[in-house]
Amino acid sequence: MTVLPARGGLDAIETASVDELRALQLQRLRWSVRHAYENVPHYRTTLDAAGVHPDDLRELSDLARIPFTTKADLRANYPFGMFAVPRERVVRIHASSGTTGRPTVVGYTRDDLDVWAAVVARSIHAAGGRPGQILHNAYGYGLFTGGLGAHAGAERLGCTVVPVSGGMTQRQVQLICDFQPEIIMVTPSYMLALVDEMVRQGIDPRKTSLKTGIFGAEPWTNEMRRDMEETLAIKAVDIYGLSEVIGPGVAMECVETQDGLHVWEDHFYPEVIDPFTGEVLPDGEEGELVLTSLTKEAMPVLRYRTRDLTRLLPGTARTMRRIEKITGRSDDMIILRGVNLFPTQIEELLLQTAELSPHFQCVLSREGRMDTMTVRVERREAVAPDAARAAGATIRQQVKATIGVSIDVEVVPPETIERSVGKMRRIVDHREKR
Ligand code: DLL
Repeated sequence: MTVLPARGGLDAIETASVDELRALQLQRLRWSVRHAYENVPHYRTTLDAAGVHPDDLRELSDLARIPFTTKADLRANYPFGMFAVPRERVVRIHASSGTTGRPTVVGYTRDDLDVWAAVVARSIHAAGGRPGQILHNAYGYGLFTGGLGAHAGAERLGCTVVPVSGGMTQRQVQLICDFQPEIIMVTPSYMLALVDEMVRQGIDPRKTSLKTGIFGAEPWTNEMRRDMEETLAIKAVDIYGLSEVIGPGVAMECVETQDGLHVWEDHFYPEVIDPFTGEVLPDGEEGELVLTSLTKEAMPVLRYRTRDLTRLLPGTARTMRRIEKITGRSDDMIILRGVNLFPTQIEELLLQTAELSPHFQCVLSREGRMDTMTVRVERREAVAPDAARAAGATIRQQVKATIGVSIDVEVVPPETIERSVGKMRRIVDHREKR
């Protein structure tokens, strides 16, 4: 495979021409599809059934002939059925938490771990991180890919890693004060909890050593970005990834433009499809992101349906195309009496309301035949309950006016809504229980 020499701290491919990138992708795609076909019975069966052979891939657009892979396929082949190498060559396993049914298992060879560390190192560099800086890693360590993925990338870049993982919020704040990290990697919702704890300890969040926040693993809005940049006096950038494809480091926002996330297309080939028809959409149109791994050995994925909704945009700070900030997942979309809405839309409105905090949940229930939604949101510490309730009523009107559906807003005291040390559970659905 072509390995171009690095220039100016960037991998050479980050600034290669689009033609060079496409040529590399085609060469790697052919390898990846053949590797999957020859070594994973599931792919041989689905490609044969679709009448496609790896030799049919003459250009990148031929990828559209290959069937999609879904989470259900991974579950059906639990635990190791999607591996394309003998299990002995798999040096690491990660898995989804699997709150419903079987977890999804993913595996890595030594070379896969090497690629993963390289794309995360590239991502931290794109965020402005440099060798020698101290990096506080509050993504959870364990079966979740966040902690160990960020860790390996930060070490690869040459940072001094503080492997804190999630939880023990008070101690996290202490460590930030003592070790003086410049970079923090954490879910945006847990960052909010850390900010609250700083305030509780009498620490001005603008006065810490932090300069860069690398936030991901869950949707967050540009309003949240502005709020955190202001509250913490940092630059906040977005990192995206998913276990099935590798973990964090599939796509990353560059600090110089902060205009969406560059997909590291030399390793992961992106498409956006219409989630209902499966048709590939032209760049610029919104739909579901589908990813194909180009270099993964242990568990190649062909056309994996992420369920994440976004658009593909041309490259700016790098040659690679960007995805727009992810607004939600197709399975995160709330359909309330026929109107589609995402928790991120509520977040956007809340962040424009000084009386209310960004700690909220959308609670769904059913009254008779009617679905209802209540946004439970905490008032800010210093705000009187009456003023906060009035702000809640305004949110209610804004949702009606902008999204077009009636909801309830329940303003609750600070510290009432469960805090997560990792991904926040934004939707609480009581409807199925009936
Ligand atoms: O969340 C990997 C990761 C860890 C990414 C740390 C970034 C930082 P999973 O647990 O498999 O992997 O969850 C993947 O999380 O399909 C998205 O729905 C969501 N997600 C991840 N990053 C973002 C992001 C990790 N930046 C699922 N914005 C994905 C919005 C995100 N959603």
